[in-house]
Amino acid sequence: MEGLRRGIGSGSTMVVVVLLAFVLLMVPEASATRWTVGGNKGWTTNVNYTIWAKDIHFYNGDWLFFVYDRNQQNILEVNKTDYEACNSDHPLHNWTTGAGRDVVPLNVTRRYYFLSGKGFCYSGMKMAVQVENLPPPPSAAPVKSKGSVPLTPVFRSQFVLPAIFAIGAVWDALLRFC
Ligand SMILES: *[C@@H]1O[C@H](CO)[C@@H](O)[C@H](O)[C@H]1NC(C)=O
Ligand SMILES: *[C@@H]1O[C@H](CO)[C@@H](O)[C@H](O)[C@H]1NC(C)=O
Ligand SMILES: *[C@@H]1O[C@H](CO)[C@@H](O)[C@H](O)[C@H]1NC(C)=O
Ligand SMILES: *[C@@H]1O[C@H](CO)[C@@H](O)[C@H](O)[C@H]1NC(C)=O
Repeated sequence: MEGLRRGIGSGSTMVVVVLLAFVLLMVPEASATRWTVGGNKGWTTNVNYTIWAKDIHFYNGDWLFFVYDRNQQNILEVNKTDYEACNSDHPLHNWTTGAGRDVVPLNVTRRYYFLSGKGFCYSGMKMAVQVENLPPPPSAAPVKSKGSVPLTPVFRSQFVLPAIFAIGAVWDALLRFC
């Protein structure tokens, strides 16, 4: 860290600014995302959730946030067969709590199938999402797609901190060459 200290010591605020910029750029990649299903339309009829989910990368550790009319809809996780048939008779998991706002953790790398029971599945209230492994931090992380508004990102400090140290080490090396 000798080089870094020399840079700051000589009044080179540039180093600090660039460092901060790097850190700010890294944070969105290194965060879990809570996806509001359907964006500002929520979980309702007349939304094609296949299209909504098409360009989104869901990573292990993300959440789905369902906002819906609690008097009408519910959120059931089903298997592939029941998803295709709109069959809500034997859900794998009933995520409905009754508040009209439910969070589903996507904590396994697999395909998830959701539908709304009471017949709404037939009018399109169904969604399949593929959950991928989180890309290895801090490099080679693909930029998150912009298919939805990520609410409250939760920072994975275990990735952010090493990232900051890594950047510091790179700068240290660079400054040694100057
Ligand atoms: C889904 O569950 C139904 C009923 O339990 C079962 O008949 C069907 O084989 C299952 N399909 C898959 C792909 O597991
Ligand atoms: C799902 O759980 C909610 C809340 O406990 C309950 O009211 C509802 O009947 C359940 N739905 C199904 C299909 O099991
Ligand atoms: C995923 O989350 C569910 C619900 O909170 C929990 O029951 C389950 O044990 C978790 N699975 C893993 C692999 O962490
Ligand atoms: C949603 O859009 C996809 C792709 O255009 C289409 O294949 C699918 O049938 C649509 N789903 C519904 C429920 O309209």
